[in-house]
Amino acid sequence: MMKRDIFTSGFGVLAATLGSAVGLGNIWKFPALTGLNGGAAFLVIYLLSTLMAGLPVMIAELMLGRRSRSDALTTFRVLHPQRESWGLIGAVGVLSAFLILAFYTEVAGWVFAYVFKSVTGSILSTDPTVTSAAFAKLIADPVQSIFWQFLVIIFVGCIIVAGVSKGIEKTTKRLMPMLFLILVMIGIRSLMLPGAAEGLTFLFRPDFSKVTGAVVLTAMGLAFFKLSVGMGTMITYGSYFTEDQDIPMTALRVMVADLTVSLLAGIAIFPAVFTYGFKPEAGPALLFITIPAVFSQMPFGTIFVVLFFVLGAIASTGAMLSIMEVPVAYLHQRFGLSRFKATAMTVVLLALVGSTAALSNSTLAGFKLFGMTMFDLYDFLTSNLLLPLGGFFLSLFAGWVWGEKKVRSALSNEGTLANRTVVSFFLFQVKYVAPVIIIVILLRGLKLI
Ligand code: PHE
Repeated sequence: MMKRDIFTSGFGVLAATLGSAVGLGNIWKFPALTGLNGGAAFLVIYLLSTLMAGLPVMIAELMLGRRSRSDALTTFRVLHPQRESWGLIGAVGVLSAFLILAFYTEVAGWVFAYVFKSVTGSILSTDPTVTSAAFAKLIADPVQSIFWQFLVIIFVGCIIVAGVSKGIEKTTKRLMPMLFLILVMIGIRSLMLPGAAEGLTFLFRPDFSKVTGAVVLTAMGLAFFKLSVGMGTMITYGSYFTEDQDIPMTALRVMVADLTVSLLAGIAIFPAVFTYGFKPEAGPALLFITIPAVFSQMPFGTIFVVLFFVLGAIASTGAMLSIMEVPVAYLHQRFGLSRFKATAMTVVLLALVGSTAALSNSTLAGFKLFGMTMFDLYDFLTSNLLLPLGGFFLSLFAGWVWGEKKVRSALSNEGTLANRTVVSFFLFQVKYVAPVIIIVILLRGLKLI
């Protein structure tokens, strides 16, 4: 057997795993969803779903991956050969990877385009009608949409080809510290603005009247999406963890750091929005319409616009690496393809699926399924259905099928870690809490109960 290319240090593990969690979810989804769905009320539900469903599933995935030292699909075959059907979790995971990447690379494409366009100044204006027109022009242009998306796909592919330690680990180790630095800089600048208090009130004021079954499902979907769980990303990354890595601790750290980034992003965005009299309800367009206009009003604003989109580019890169690694690891291990061939295949396939999302605002704007464009459909299908479902079956597998003794020895690193209570708590969560919560929220959110 080939020697497995794995992460080489504790910091590398943390940088890569956190790099996966932190992404467009923090700056594109989190602030917009929180602002739209009742502020602190949404935040509380999101937090609870993270603690009771997201975190246990993350620990389960990392644990299974490290034990099997295999990709998302093969893991189940290795750990439970008696019943092949568990492998379906991994198969659906590989499918989800393509669906997420399809729309994710498009948004990342806009972000990369905006880094470039804010440097040249072409999207900068203090007038939101101008920035709105600039954004509309970009997304309605099929050539530009495809160009930026393919550029991003190829960029991520090039890092993936370099390998787990020399590509993913090396890149995320450099990017993560930069990300925090930029975020703190923008956050401090924002908090010094006169509208800071109003902005923070908007983000944190609880409005429980907005909370419906669908909103709760959205919050849980965000919890899964944020922690990159429910589709085998963390199984794949877990398979690159060293044997002495403390898995529950790593997961907890990643969760806390990821949450911090989300809150900092909210703190960076909303004070500025209020100071300059903008409406926060702009949804995802907040990023591409409001941000350039708002930051352009500040002294030295251009620098902050550029910084903001660089931040987005950095964050999205770490996340895309981890999603693309799922099919690449599978093709590499299962069919013995070289890393180059596995990546090339993934890139081509992704370009095909991805272009249907990229063209959702132009050529394919009229093409809808269930009332949604392909872009919205992929987003809804993965966050609100496939990731929670994947999380449900993963917790059942870890809690009931694989066996308590194996869980105990895997999570305590064969008894070398003194974490009996933590592991018992995890077992309780993964056996009873997570599956029940997930299934209830899912059925209720889809109006099936
Ligand atoms: N966690 C990433 C983000 O918030 C997205 C992601 C989802 C990454 C699923 C991997 C798997 O942007």
